[in-house]
Amino acid sequence: TVKRLTVPDIMAKKGKDPVVSLTAYTTPVAQLMDSYVDLVLVGDSLGMVIYGLPTTLSVTTEMMIAHGQAVMRGTKRACVMVDLPFASYHESPQQAFRTAARILQETGAAAVKLEGGEEMAETVEFLTKRGIPVCGHVGLMPQAVQMMGGFKVAGKNDIQIQKVIQDSHAIANAGAFAIVLEGIIEPVAQTITQQLSIPTIGIGASPTCDGQVLVCDDIFGVFQGFKPKFVKRYAQVGQIMEEAVKQYASEVRSRSFPSMEYCFQPKKS
Ligand code: KIV
Ligand code: NA
Repeated sequence: TVKRLTVPDIMAKKGKDPVVSLTAYTTPVAQLMDSYVDLVLVGDSLGMVIYGLPTTLSVTTEMMIAHGQAVMRGTKRACVMVDLPFASYHESPQQAFRTAARILQETGAAAVKLEGGEEMAETVEFLTKRGIPVCGHVGLMPQAVQMMGGFKVAGKNDIQIQKVIQDSHAIANAGAFAIVLEGIIEPVAQTITQQLSIPTIGIGASPTCDGQVLVCDDIFGVFQGFKPKFVKRYAQVGQIMEEAVKQYASEVRSRSFPSMEYCFQPKKS
């Protein structure tokens, strides 16, 4: 039996080995990545990637729990964390605690992740002091898409640079075990990584981050909606799936599927 990586195991990688992270939403995909990935994120990106929603804003706690359970069933070694969805933690630290506790209890995941800077520091402290490991997420925060008027890279001027640096320090000082740096200009992500004592996990950030994360359907080439600059497609699985559907449809139409090898016969008497 393999031992599952813990939150302290992830923290201990700072300054040693890179933290390899990917999102997963389903059991079979979680299974195939389990031996290669240290930290599996059940991201609220699932709203856009597998439910076809335009943003992450209408993702619910119930969706996160269902997919969190599926990913836990598919993993034995990876540390699993689950995103707190929009409006499930913004009201108060108490609301955040109730949501996070429910997610950990119902999925068995080790940690939660939430978006936000200084304004979320009190919430991060409230959770971590009560036994819930929290990963922060600063820079491009998809749950703030309406405030930003789109998915915008952070750090494009001095005010933004100061803000993202202060935000990351506030979240780290509040007790987060790690922090996702998303869509931040490279030198600023590097500065934050050098300054913080917790692992930084980059996505559209810097190769110097302590770890990297991407959305699984993006690296597979299954999600074809759009491709942010930071996404590297390692495969074209979407094309392969389409080819399979095309061939199946053609064989059904020509009645060449199912051939007899796929059919049941009566018992020989
Ligand atoms: O929801 C998600 O997939 C994320 C990662 C991109 C960090 O938050
Ligand atoms: Na997310």
